[in-house]
Amino acid sequence: RAAVAADLGRTAFRPVPPNRRDALVSPEGFRSDVVVRWGDPVEKGAPRFDVRRQTPDAAAKQFGYNCDYVGVLPLRGRRDRALLVVNHEYTDPNLMFPTDLYDEDTQKEIEVLAHGMSVVEIVRGRTPGSWLRADHTRARRNRRVSARTAFTMTGPAAGDPRLRTTADPTGRRVMGTLNNCAGGTTPWGTVLSGEENVNQYFDASGDLDARYADSYRRMGFTGDGRGWSSIDPRFDLTTEPHEPFRFGWVVELDPSDPRSTPRKHSMLGRFKHEGANVALAEDGRAVAYLGDDERGDYLYKFVSRDRVRSGNGAAARRHNMTLLTRGTLYVARLTGDGTADGRHDGTGEWIRLTSDTTSYVEGMSVADVLIDTRLAADRVAPTRMDRPEDVEPNPVNGKVYVALTNNSNRGSDALPVDEANPIGSSMTRPALGAPLEQKSGNRNGYVLELTPARGDHAADRFTWDLMLVCGDPAAQETYFAGYDKAEVSPISCPDNVAFDSEGNLWISTDGNALGSNDGVFRVPTAGPERGRVQQFLTVPRGAEACGPLLADRDRSLFVAVQHPGEVDGATFESPASTWPHTDDFPRPSVAVVYRHA
Ligand code: FEO
Ligand code: CA
Ligand code: CA
Ligand code: CA
Repeated sequence: RAAVAADLGRTAFRPVPPNRRDALVSPEGFRSDVVVRWGDPVEKGAPRFDVRRQTPDAAAKQFGYNCDYVGVLPLRGRRDRALLVVNHEYTDPNLMFPTDLYDEDTQKEIEVLAHGMSVVEIVRGRTPGSWLRADHTRARRNRRVSARTAFTMTGPAAGDPRLRTTADPTGRRVMGTLNNCAGGTTPWGTVLSGEENVNQYFDASGDLDARYADSYRRMGFTGDGRGWSSIDPRFDLTTEPHEPFRFGWVVELDPSDPRSTPRKHSMLGRFKHEGANVALAEDGRAVAYLGDDERGDYLYKFVSRDRVRSGNGAAARRHNMTLLTRGTLYVARLTGDGTADGRHDGTGEWIRLTSDTTSYVEGMSVADVLIDTRLAADRVAPTRMDRPEDVEPNPVNGKVYVALTNNSNRGSDALPVDEANPIGSSMTRPALGAPLEQKSGNRNGYVLELTPARGDHAADRFTWDLMLVCGDPAAQETYFAGYDKAEVSPISCPDNVAFDSEGNLWISTDGNALGSNDGVFRVPTAGPERGRVQQFLTVPRGAEACGPLLADRDRSLFVAVQHPGEVDGATFESPASTWPHTDDFPRPSVAVVYRHA
């Protein structure tokens, strides 16, 4: 074990202090390189990026906008190379296009194609832990997937009448993926990606089909969209009332085969999927943990019917890629044991919603539950959470970690506090004569730790412990698993999580409510250092930190720098950031951080 260079999991570093710099700041002794930027060539034939000569054809072959999930997969037989798989969540047209240079419909078409995912071959740099983008003209597996790529629907809701449209009377062939947020790499070498805030793309301002009113409302299909119906009528609900039912799923992409048709798995339910991470149960069934990122929404898991088949052969892979099409979908209920013990903790149960053959929700069919998962879950009284984002099992200790970003509504009459969601709005007068202090909900978020019963991910019971109550360590309500609050970094709005091979938790943040830039933090989950939050990096102004991912035996930390310069009122001509400083405008990019003594 000592021979493994587990650098980032073991190495001590001096935490990066909170700052507002327009830079990716890592600790002394570490260095960061940009691996791939928005606009860099991905597929063969991609032209060199020119921000003033963007075209839809070019965008379809170049690295997309707003990188989020990052996966790194080995390339068999090529130790010096790997595949980087990245989500492109959404677009910021005010930062992408010089003002008044392009006509509106061209801009929209470029935005459609800048969504989705990228597969990019990377090659080792000279310093251990460093990686570079490989020559795309020789990278056979490089691929762009966008809102115009064909997907196959799988599972019990595939082909349902609600999934049928003018363009696809089968209800099984969907054009594109949207708002791909976090994700996970499966034990069988594919990548899962969550379609999150898909409501924003659809114009729901016309006369809507009354049959779907509850469904549209519960998923937030209520606005007038991003105007995309001017280039593609399917984005108007009055024209295609079923198109929204084809989004909001978990997507599976096989990066090893650039010609494969990616899939949308109806069996994992439809909601604002943050991502999906798979662990194996003791008996070899696949268990996917799922978060629904909305204030007051739920935590889910799926357990497959069949067991994983080991080996890298084509037959094993074909089998394993069916695992997410049959099984059972559950939603979580958490029960506190009271706060007299000085801890926010308790027990929990996974409540069955449906299997692939039997619905457990009265009055709803299997397809009903999968298409309107939120409405189904509403009927079984799960625990309303503070925006469940990334949910990921720790492969070292077998516990599951949930990032709960924040919730401005918590503490309202409609959403009271409970032991698992303890911080809400309040009015207090800290001392006699002092002014009233108003707290608006849970502003800084939590990290929740779940322990499956018997250490088995398939179990329907668990215990839970609110490991981190984030915020300024000087604030009375914060909690860092009992660690000395004088010794931790301030942290706010945990979003994505990852683990190194020591079992340390790595957290990236989105929306730091403490006034400094977002970043990435390392936190031990066991031993005397448990709860010692240390800031490992900060991202540039206006950016959120995504990924993160430890790779190459913990020598490399990949981080997606999403939406640098995204601040209110920013324009292409007056950006709040120009990171990574290769141009006079910002470019969302994936970077790698490594030790550089
Ligand atoms: Fe796309 Fe919930 O973050
Ligand atoms: Ca308790
Ligand atoms: Ca996120
Ligand atoms: Ca993750």
